[in-house]
Amino acid sequence: MNNINIFPYETIASKEVFFGREKESKEIKEFIAHSNNLVIFSKRRLGKTSLIKEIFRQIQEGKKEECLCIYLDIYDITSAEDFGTCLLQGLTSSFKGDITSSLKKLSSMFKRVRAEPTFDPTTMKYGIKPVVTALKFEELLEDFFQSIFDISKNKKIVLAIDEFQQISTIKNKKIDALFRKYVQDEKSANISYIFLGSKRHMLTSLFEYKAPMFELATPLELQTINIKEVYAYVSQHLNIKEETNTYIYTLCDGETKLMQHIFFLLHVKHKSIKITCELVDEVLEEILLYKTAMYRAILDTFTLNQKKCLKLLLKYDKGLFSKDVLYEQNLNKSLMQAAISSLIEKEILDKKDEIFFIPDRAFELWGKRVYLK
Ligand SMILES: Nc1ncnc2c1ncn2[C@@H]1O[C@H](COP(=O)(O)OP(=O)(O)OP(=O)(O)O)[C@@H](O)[C@H]1O
Ligand SMILES: [Mg+2]
Repeated sequence: MNNINIFPYETIASKEVFFGREKESKEIKEFIAHSNNLVIFSKRRLGKTSLIKEIFRQIQEGKKEECLCIYLDIYDITSAEDFGTCLLQGLTSSFKGDITSSLKKLSSMFKRVRAEPTFDPTTMKYGIKPVVTALKFEELLEDFFQSIFDISKNKKIVLAIDEFQQISTIKNKKIDALFRKYVQDEKSANISYIFLGSKRHMLTSLFEYKAPMFELATPLELQTINIKEVYAYVSQHLNIKEETNTYIYTLCDGETKLMQHIFFLLHVKHKSIKITCELVDEVLEEILLYKTAMYRAILDTFTLNQKKCLKLLLKYDKGLFSKDVLYEQNLNKSLMQAAISSLIEKEILDKKDEIFFIPDRAFELWGKRVYLK
């Protein structure tokens, strides 16, 4: 494990350093085994992408011949055709093993798309890419689905589409309605569709009542990693007491990415000594300092009222609309409401069960410890 980062916080956790999530993995695998569909959502940075990739890894290690796992991330799509291309790329790159026979198989399945070999000089690996020039979205979608329907006659398929909410940014095509047609088709019987996303509201609204995708997938909200699982892993690599682990977990509100960042720095700097809460505070301060320029740049885009509203949100857990609180920043109810809505729009703020919260825990801590000072 010499060159591996034991606590990844910027990249997806690899097999060697992935920990916990036993219950969730089991549950998701059950859905896959029955070819059921899922919408996996959560607060940001909890580990949705890492989890689905780990599950795919485990499935492929076990029953490669019986199941084809297709993963794609559509965060960067700017058109319906981009989305179609992403689906096809996901499919071609899920073909592992002998390139010639994979090419043959794909070429025989595609009606309009062409499959072409590629070579990556950095990894020295061959691959396959779809050539989609001048094809319309509907044609791309049809080639993709006909191919997976074809494969699924002999093999189970799991199709995971990450950042799925991005389809709602494309306005000129009713992607969700078209998608519904295929997902509902009886030829999808051996296929499990998993939709994941980081923009919770945008994602869940695609599946709400009256939306085309309503009731097409079971919603599953991913929670924070179980604290005992965190400690079981961390205590293998750091000299740390359970209470100190709990201190970190609470400080981070269970946000995996921030916890991993803290553990990473503790491991780099204090691997051989006992970890204390003071050391934790020290590395947290370092993280917040390092993020200051970025957070200031974000704040520069705020209006004066948005800044005032943020200050109140950082200071008060409740009573945000009370006279005294509003008076403190010289705001009134409607200005506060407008500022809150715009912060939600900017994804600085979120709301659950009528309670507002700042979804980026590091930003919240920075706000409380640096901005408010
Ligand atoms: N089970 C895990 N074991 C080890 N590291 C993890 C685990 N889950 C998440 N991480 C780490 O936490 C960070 C955030 O995880 P990930 O990107 O998977 O979350 P996400 O929910 O997909 O985030 P986003 O909402 O931004 O898409 C990553 O750097 C990842 O390596
Ligand atoms: Mg993700």
